[in-house]
Amino acid sequence: MTSRNPELDEGAEAGSETATEADADAGDDAAVSGGSGVETATGAGPDGGSDRGGDAIVEVEELRKTFGGIVAVDGATFELEEAKITGLIGPNGAGKTTTFNLLSGFLQPDSGEVRFRGRSTSELMRPSAAEDRVWVTASGITFGGVGASLAGAAGASLALLGGAAVVGLGFGAGLYYGQRGVRERYLESRPQRPHRLAEHGMVRTFQITRELQEMTVMENLMLGPSDQRGENLFQTWFRPNAVAAQEQEIRDRAFEVLELLELSHLTNEYAGNLSGGQRKLLELGRVLMVDPDVILLDEPVAGVNPSLRENLMDRILELRDQGYSFCIVEHDMDVIMRLSDTVIVMDQGQVLTEGSPEIIREDERVIDAYLGG
Ligand SMILES: Nc1ncnc2c1ncn2[C@@H]1O[C@H](COP(=O)(O)OP(=O)(O)OP(=O)(O)O)[C@@H](O)[C@H]1O
Ligand SMILES: [Mg+2]
Repeated sequence: MTSRNPELDEGAEAGSETATEADADAGDDAAVSGGSGVETATGAGPDGGSDRGGDAIVEVEELRKTFGGIVAVDGATFELEEAKITGLIGPNGAGKTTTFNLLSGFLQPDSGEVRFRGRSTSELMRPSAAEDRVWVTASGITFGGVGASLAGAAGASLALLGGAAVVGLGFGAGLYYGQRGVRERYLESRPQRPHRLAEHGMVRTFQITRELQEMTVMENLMLGPSDQRGENLFQTWFRPNAVAAQEQEIRDRAFEVLELLELSHLTNEYAGNLSGGQRKLLELGRVLMVDPDVILLDEPVAGVNPSLRENLMDRILELRDQGYSFCIVEHDMDVIMRLSDTVIVMDQGQVLTEGSPEIIREDERVIDAYLGG
C-alpha cells in the first residue's frame, strides 16, 4: 500500500530530463517495483520483521561537506535498504546531523551524490520544467521590452531612421544573447527544493512549532500535504470542486494515519495538549500524510518518557513491516539497537563500519570511537 507509483514520478519528471536519463530511470524503476512486488524471503534478514526489501532504495556515494575549514562529512558511502530501518550513530561531531541534512536536501554536498531509487536527489529537487518555462518567458518579455525602449529612445534622439534601425538591431542582438547567457547560468544553478524530494517520496519529520500547537491533531495532519507540496492558489480560485474533492481525500488519509498511529482518540485535541510522545507521533503522522517511501527521523524518541517510547518504537517497527524505509539518527543506543535492521557507525565524517546491531555492539572499533570521542 505504501509503494508509490514510479510511473507518476516518471511522468512528472520526464519533461525536465534528457532522453538518456529518462531511459535509465525507467529501467531502474522497473527493477525496483519488480523487486518489491515479489514477496519472497530473498534478502530478509533474520532480525528483520519484513519479508520485503533487500534492495537499496537510497544510495549515498562519497558525500563530502565542509563548513569553512571543518570537514563535517568526508566521503561517506552507504545504502538504505527498502523496507528496513537503518540507524545512523557515532560520537559527537561525527557528522550524523550533517549527513541527515544532506540526505533530506536541506544542505547541498560539496561533492558526492545521494540517489533515491537510482535517481540523483539534487536532480529530483530542481524546479519542474513548467517553473523553468515561466522564468524564461518572464525574462524574455523583460529583455524584449528593455530592448525596444532603448531602440526607441536611441531612434528619437538620433532622429535618423537608418541610425535607429542599426542601433535597434544591435541592442536586440545583444539583449538576446545576454538573456540566453543569464538563462543558461540560471538553469545550471537552479535552486534545490527539498519539498520536491518529499513529493517523490523521501521526507523528514519536523518539530511541531508553537503555531501548530494551537491547531488540532486533525488540522495538523490536513496541513501536512499542502505544507510539503506547496499550495496551488490557481486551483483554489478556478477549480473549487476539485479542491473540495482533494480535501476529502486528505481527510480520509488523515483518518487512516490516525488509526495507523493509534491516535484516533486524539483527533480533535489541540497539539499543544499532547504529551511529548504523542507529539512525536503527530510529527510522524504529518509526514505519513504524503505517503512517503523513505522517512528520515532525527532523534525520534528524544525527550519522550519511557512508556511512551515503547509505543513510539512499536509504531515505527509496524510501519517498517508495512514497507516504509527509515533512516534514524539517534543517541540512545538501546533504542537504535532495538529498532535498526542495519546500523551505520560514523566517525570523523566517514563510515567507520556497518552491520547488524548484534555485530556493531561487539565491534572494538565502535567502542573505541565512542570512548575516544
Ligand atoms: N553549520 C555548521 N557550521 C560550522 N560547522 C558545522 C556546522 N554544522 C556542523 N558543523 C561541524 O561539523 C562537524 C559534524 O557535525 P554534526 O552536527 O554533523 O555532527 P553530529 O554527529 O550530528 O554530532 P552530535 O552527535 O553532537 O549531534 C562538527 O565538527 C561540527 O562542529
Ligand atoms: Mg547531531
